[in-house]
Amino acid sequence: MNDFYKVNPQNEVDYWFNNIENHGEDVYSYGPKYYVAAILKRILPVMKIPKSGKIGMLGTHKCYSFSLLENFFGRENCIGYDLLNITNRSNIIEGSIVEVEKNLIPQLSFCWNDLGNYSRNPYEKMFGQIVFSNKIVKGGFFIGRDGSNRARFPVETLMNELNFESTNMLNFFNEKNIPCSDLDESVLKSHLISIRK
Ligand SMILES: C[S@@+](CC[C@H](N)C(=O)[O-])C[C@H]1O[C@@H](n2cnc3c(N)ncnc32)[C@H](O)[C@@H]1O
Repeated sequence: MNDFYKVNPQNEVDYWFNNIENHGEDVYSYGPKYYVAAILKRILPVMKIPKSGKIGMLGTHKCYSFSLLENFFGRENCIGYDLLNITNRSNIIEGSIVEVEKNLIPQLSFCWNDLGNYSRNPYEKMFGQIVFSNKIVKGGFFIGRDGSNRARFPVETLMNELNFESTNMLNFFNEKNIPCSDLDESVLKSHLISIRK
């Protein structure tokens, strides 16, 4: 890959792990109140996730949300990716997502793209979306930001082209009658949940 597109991994590690106080109050130190954890807790019990693939998370950070997946699906069925494996798990692949050997990525039945963000590391975020959504098995789910992202990456178009049916997370909550009045509606509206046909 052209080096122009690679963000500096050392700066990125410093930003993501040593500067959490600058990420905004709404990340709640990536604990139970962080929106990924809050959403996962509510949607996992109602989703029909195929058993044929692994459960993935792109961007695991300190693993609060990832541990929800492990507790629900079993640690051996989960795989995470991040610049640092600060909790020293054997099921986390450490390093930049763009360096991951593609043929070592397993088939997945669920994956959430929470890698950095479209403003800070658009190339890596898009790379994760394209490569990992293409590993989803039939009937499996992929979750990530929608096309209103700051890089204007046309997520809905990509997911259509890869044979996914998508809806926004707010619709999904409403269709499944999952309470969400305490969650940020704009976050739910700007996340896409896609199922592979
Ligand atoms: C928003 S945090 C993830 C939070 C986590 N999903 C949770 O729910 O607690 C974003 C993560 O993406 C990781 N990240 C950023 N750029 C990356 C890259 N190029 N490759 C792998 N991970 C990356 C950061 O290290 C950071 O831990």
